[in-house]
Amino acid sequence: MAKQPEEIIRSNRDWAAEKLSANPSYFRDMARGQSPQFLWIGCSDSRVPAEDITGSSPGELFVARNVANLVVHTDMNLMSVIEYAVTQLKVQHIVVCGHTDCGGVRAAMSPKSYGMIDKWLRNIRDLAYAHRAELEPLSPEARERRLIELNVIEQARNLTHSCIVQRAWNRGRDLTIHGWLYEMETGLLRDLIAIDKAFPIPEAYRYDFSA
Ligand code: CO
Repeated sequence: MAKQPEEIIRSNRDWAAEKLSANPSYFRDMARGQSPQFLWIGCSDSRVPAEDITGSSPGELFVARNVANLVVHTDMNLMSVIEYAVTQLKVQHIVVCGHTDCGGVRAAMSPKSYGMIDKWLRNIRDLAYAHRAELEPLSPEARERRLIELNVIEQARNLTHSCIVQRAWNRGRDLTIHGWLYEMETGLLRDLIAIDKAFPIPEAYRYDFSA
C-alpha cells in the first residue's frame, strides 16, 4: 500500500526522539546555525538523496536539486543558492552530481515533447548536439551514459563561468568544483572531474575584477 502522509509525520517524531535520546542538546545546537563545507547540486530524482548516499548528517551539505542537475546562469534560484553558499557560508567544495538512469537526460534524447520541461532540457539537447560526433556512433545505452557524464562535466565547467566562483578565486579562496556520477546500479559515486582555481577559464567567460 502507498505510504500515507501521516506515516511520514510519525517517522519524523520517531527520528526526532532518537536524536534527542542520543544527544539531548542536538536540536538546540543545530538551531544555532549552519557551516556546511559542501554545496551539492544534484538531480531532483527521488533515488539520489544527497545526504543518504554520502553518509552526511544535517548541517553538512547545502543542497540545490533540479531536473538533470543543470547550472543555468539565468536560473535565479540556483544562482542565489550558489552565491549564498560561496559568499556567505564559504563552502570549500561544490559538487555537481549526475546519475545513471536520469529521466531528464533520457527525455532530452527523445524526439517526444514533454511540455514546459522541454525548455529546461534544451540545455542537454544543445550539449548532445555539440558532442554529436562522439555520441552518434555509440549504442543507445552507451550514448545515454556518456551524455549523462558529459552533462556533469559541462555543468561543472559552467560553474567556473560564473562571476560568483571567479570572484571567490580572485580573492584567494579555496574552492574546488567536483563533477561526480552516481551509479544507480551499484550505489557508488564516480569522480569525473575536479576543477580548482588553476583551471583555464576560456577568455570569453573570464571576468576582470581589477576593472
Ligand atoms: Co535525474
